[in-house]
Amino acid sequence: MVKTSKRDLVRAAAKARQRAVAPYSKFKVGAALLTRSGEIITGANVESASYGLTCCAERVVLFNALTAGKRDFVAVAVVARAPGGPMPCGACRQLLAEYAPHAKVWVADTRALDAPKEYSVRELLPAAFVEVPEDSD
Ligand code: THU
Repeated sequence: MVKTSKRDLVRAAAKARQRAVAPYSKFKVGAALLTRSGEIITGANVESASYGLTCCAERVVLFNALTAGKRDFVAVAVVARAPGGPMPCGACRQLLAEYAPHAKVWVADTRALDAPKEYSVRELLPAAFVEVPEDSD
């Protein structure tokens, strides 16, 4: 396995942030996912004039990775200019719980890239709904 450090992943997210498409909020967010084999996949938020269609960086990076056939994510870094870093929204927590349940989540402020905060997906979304039960009625 290629050794990728927390620092490398946070920096990859900061770089990806430069490609954010956020003309409405101007709040640019970058994200980077690390696979068990050491691959890094990146993404950034994309906004729409129909505001509700906006997709957060975390979901963009997950969709990028999943549709490129990647699985087994060990960490995700999320970077924005926000004190303490950007906390993933509820929708993104749901997707992380489904597709990256064991990933460490590192969030960092662009002004403090060397001091990311660490969370587990489970603490961000306890008791997640991750499986549709069979309905035999
Ligand atoms: N956003 C993200 O991309 N990730 C987060 O963790 C928080 C919010 C985006 C969505 C929208 O484009 C902008 O930030 C403002 O909410």
